Amino acid sequence: MRTRLIVTAVSIAAIGLAAFGVFTAFATVSATTLKPDAVAGKSESVLCATCHGSDGMSVATNIPNLAGQHYAYLIQQLIAYKDGTRKNGVMTEMVRPMPLAELRNVAAYFSTIRVDVSTGKAKK
Ligand code: HEC
Repeated sequence: MRTRLIVTAVSIAAIGLAAFGVFTAFATVSATTLKPDAVAGKSESVLCATCHGSDGMSVATNIPNLAGQHYAYLIQQLIAYKDGTRKNGVMTEMVRPMPLAELRNVAAYFSTIRVDVSTGKAKK
């Protein structure tokens, strides 16, 4: 009886470990090898739009425009806010709950918006 209990406990632990392994492997693969999805990024950036604008042109002069910014720069800043290298209370709170794959998507979305430099507005 006691042995059976121990065997069951060990099996459950093994299954749990295996599932965790598969999950972590998948999460790592999707975060590092899948291409960022700008279309998904548009819907994932609804909150960001309240400050940075749905077309990446910010709603106030103390908030940076993101439209047309380089993807590499955007993702670097988002990761820096997330790991605390770059400090800003609002932005840290914004990115903290977001998985890396989502940050890549929103960075991709804002980087694909084209800006007309002569008018300073996003091109439709
Ligand atoms: C409440 C307003 C607000 C919201 C919501 C918000 N941001 Fe920001 N964001 C700011 C401000 C203000 C800054 C400038 C912070 C600083 O000085 O570091 C900033 C900075 C940034 C920067 C750095 C820009 C640069 O030129 O270096 C990026 C990238 C960014 N935000 C992306 C996002 C994304 C993606 C979201 C949604 C997940 C988001 N922000 C949501 C206000 C906001």
